[in-house]
Amino acid sequence: MSFNLDIAGRRALVTGGTKGIGAAVVAALLDAGVRVMTTARSVPETPIEGVEFFVTDVSTAAGCANLTNAVLEQFGGVDFIVNVVGGSTAPAGGFAVLDDDEWWAALNQNLMAAVRIDRALLPSMITQGCGVIIHVTSIQRELPLAESTTAYAAAKAALSTYSKSLSKEVSPKGIRVVRVSPGWVATEASVAMAERLALQAGTDYEGGKQIIMDSLGGIPLGRPARTEEVADLIAFLVSARASSITGTEYVIDGGTVPTV
Ligand SMILES: NC(=O)c1ccc[n+]([C@@H]2O[C@H](COP(=O)([O-])OP(=O)(O)OC[C@H]3O[C@@H](n4cnc5c(N)ncnc54)[C@H](OP(=O)(O)O)[C@@H]3O)[C@@H](O)[C@H]2O)c1
Repeated sequence: MSFNLDIAGRRALVTGGTKGIGAAVVAALLDAGVRVMTTARSVPETPIEGVEFFVTDVSTAAGCANLTNAVLEQFGGVDFIVNVVGGSTAPAGGFAVLDDDEWWAALNQNLMAAVRIDRALLPSMITQGCGVIIHVTSIQRELPLAESTTAYAAAKAALSTYSKSLSKEVSPKGIRVVRVSPGWVATEASVAMAERLALQAGTDYEGGKQIIMDSLGGIPLGRPARTEEVADLIAFLVSARASSITGTEYVIDGGTVPTV
C-alpha cells in the first residue's frame, strides 16, 4: 500500500509559517509538492525557498484583508487554509490583570484571524466545490492554566466552537473543517522558555522541561511533541486520505489531557 498524500500542485495558505509549528507545516506541504503562501509580521532572516511570503499582522482586519487579496491574486483561489497563528502575550496574574486590551488581543490573534481569513477565502472554495480548513487550537481550550492563560484558553475554546459550526455549514458544500489541538510542542520559543525556567530554578534544560510538564499535570509520553509530528498530522488531514474527516478535533499531546 502506498501512502502518497497526492496533494502535489494544490494551493495552500499557512499563517505563521516562519517559526514553530507553522514552519514545519510549510516544510511538510512543500515536500509534498504543494504551492504554499505563508505569513509572519517580520521577514525571516533566511528566506524560505519555494514559498510565497507575505508580511502581515493577521490579528488585524486590514492585515487579513491584504493577505486574502494577495492569495486570490497570486493563486487565483486556494485549496487548503491552515490557520496556525495563535498564542498568548498576556502577563501572569489571573483575571485581574486581563483588561479589555488583553482580552481583545487574545481574541483577535486566536479567533478573529481565522474567522476573517476563512470568511474571505471560503467563497472561492465554495465555487470550486472543495477545500480543507485546518484550525490549530490547543489542549488549553479544555485544560486552561488559570494563572497565565485564561484569555488564550477561552479564545481557543471559541475557535473550536466556531470551527465545529463552520464545518456543519460548509461540509455539505465539499469543504472539510478540522481542528488540530496540540499539547506542549518543542518549538524554538518553548525550548527557550524551558531554558529560562531552568536558569531561574538553578537546574538544567531537562529540569526546565520537567517544570513545564509538571505545570500541565504531567505528559504520560514524557516529552513535548515535535513540530514535525504536528505537521505530519496536518498534511494527512488536508489530503484526500482524510476525505471523510470533518467537524472533529485531533489532539496531539502525548497523553496530557487527563480525561477521556
Ligand atoms: N508551541 C506549543 O506548545 C503550542 C501548544 C498548543 C497550541 N499551540 C498553537 O500552535 C500555533 C503555533 O504556535 P507556535 O508555538 O508554533 O508559534 P511560534 O513558534 O510562536 O510561531 C508563531 C509564528 O506565527 C507568526 N505570527 C505570530 N503572530 C502573528 C500575527 N499576528 N500575524 C502574522 N504572523 C504571526 C510568527 O512570526 P512573527 O513573530 O514574525 O509574526 C511565527 O512565524 C498557535 O496557534 C498556538 O496557540 C502551540
